[in-house]
Amino acid sequence: MPETIDLLLLGAGQLVTCGRPEKGPRRGPALSDPGIVEGGAIAVSKGRIFAIGSEDEVLSAIDGAQPTKTIDAGGRVVMPGWVEPHTHAVFASYRADEYEARIRGDSYLDIERRGGGIKKSVRDLRAMDEDILFEKSRRRLMRMFEEGVTTIEIKSGYGLDLENEMKMLRVIARLGAETPLDVVATFLGAHQVPPGYDDTESYVDVVIDEMLPAVADSGLASFMDVFCEKGVFDAAQTRRLLEAGRNHGLGLKVHSDEIFAIGGTEVAVELGAVSADHLTKITPDGIRMLAESGTIGVLLPSTSFGLASRHFAPAREMVEAGVAIALSSDFNPGSAPSSSMQLAISIACSQMRLVPAEAINAATINAACAIGMDSETGSLEIGKKADIVLYDNEDYREIPSRAGSNHAVLVIKDGSVARELNDFRSRSEVGL
Ligand code: NIG
Ligand code: FE
Repeated sequence: MPETIDLLLLGAGQLVTCGRPEKGPRRGPALSDPGIVEGGAIAVSKGRIFAIGSEDEVLSAIDGAQPTKTIDAGGRVVMPGWVEPHTHAVFASYRADEYEARIRGDSYLDIERRGGGIKKSVRDLRAMDEDILFEKSRRRLMRMFEEGVTTIEIKSGYGLDLENEMKMLRVIARLGAETPLDVVATFLGAHQVPPGYDDTESYVDVVIDEMLPAVADSGLASFMDVFCEKGVFDAAQTRRLLEAGRNHGLGLKVHSDEIFAIGGTEVAVELGAVSADHLTKITPDGIRMLAESGTIGVLLPSTSFGLASRHFAPAREMVEAGVAIALSSDFNPGSAPSSSMQLAISIACSQMRLVPAEAINAATINAACAIGMDSETGSLEIGKKADIVLYDNEDYREIPSRAGSNHAVLVIKDGSVARELNDFRSRSEVGL
C-alpha cells in the first residue's frame, strides 16, 4: 500500500532546500550552498515532507499513490518558510515619530532619555486591553505569513511587571494556537528598568525572585533574553539574570553589542546561550569566541536600517571567522518597524555583503537552530514539517535584488495551502 500523499508539488524552477549534510547550523563556506534541486518536486504526507528531489525521484518514491492535491509550481522558486528567531511582534502601537526624530539627528538613547523608546511602548502596552493586543498582533503575524514567515520567535519585554509580562506571554501563546504559524516565546522581563525603581539591582532582584519563578511555572516561555547594554543591564547583571533563567530550565539569549560592546556576547558564550543577537559593535575577540562556540550570532540588518544608521554588524568577518550566523527582522515598534523578512534579507545582502544564499540559509536553517526548531523546520528535508513557500521568481536571487515588494505567492504550512495570492499565475511574468 503506498502512503497517503496529501500534496504533490511539481515543476519548481529552483527548489532551494537549505538542507544540510550534518546536524547543526551552516558555517563558513557551507553557508553559501543553497542546496538547489533544479526542476524539483516535493510529496507531502500528514503535514510532513515524505519525498523531495527531482520529479522522477519523487514520483518513484510515492509509488503510484494518487495525491489528494497537486500544485504545479510552473518554473517558480520554491523555498522553506522563513524562520524569524528574534522579534518583538506583540506591542500596542508604532513609534513613527521617533523615526523622524532619528532622521533629524536624535540618537536611540536620546529618545529613551526623554521618555520615548521602550518606555513609551511599556506605557502603551500596559494600557491596552489584552484582546485588542492579541488581535492587532494576530493581524501583524498574518501579514508576515503572507510574505513567507512560517515560524516566529516573539519576546515579551514591554510589560516589565509580572502582570503585564504574563499578559504578553498569554497573547504570544494564543498567537501560536490561533494562527497557522509556529510561535516560540521568550521572556524579556530584563528589557529595561521600568519607572519606580531606585536602582537597576532592585529590578534585577524582582525579575529573578518574582517574575522568573512565575513565568517558568506557567510554561509560557521557552527562552529568556536580557538587553545587555550601557545604561540598561551590565555584563554582571546579565550573567546573574541568565544564570537564574537557566536554573528555571529556560534556554538563553542575549541582546549584546548593539550600541556599545560591554561584554554581553562573552557572557552568552560562557553560559552556553543558544544565541547572541544584534552584534553591531562586536569586537574581534567577541567574533573569535563566538566562532569557537555553539552560540549563534543573530544579525538584525533592519534595525540599523530603521535606526537610520550606516553601521551594520560585521557579517563578512563573522562568516569568514566561522561564526554560525542567523538573520531576523527584529520587528518591533521603534528601532525596526519593518516586519518584512524579504527586506531584511535584501539589506543583509547589499549592506552586510552576504551573498543571497548565505542570507537565505541564515534566515531559514540557521534561524531554526537559533530557536531550537531545526529538527522540525528551516529546510526542505524528508521528515520535516512541510513549511513551503512559492515565490513568483525564476531565480532565488531576485528576492533580495528586487527589494520592496512581496514575492511570495503561495504559502504552505504543515502541508496545507494556507495562503494563495489570487490570480498569481495570470499576473506573473514567469514562464512567458
Ligand atoms: O531589539 N534593543 C533593544 N530592544 C529592541 C528595541 C525595541 C524597541 O525599540 O521597542 C531591539 O532593537
Ligand atoms: Fe530585539
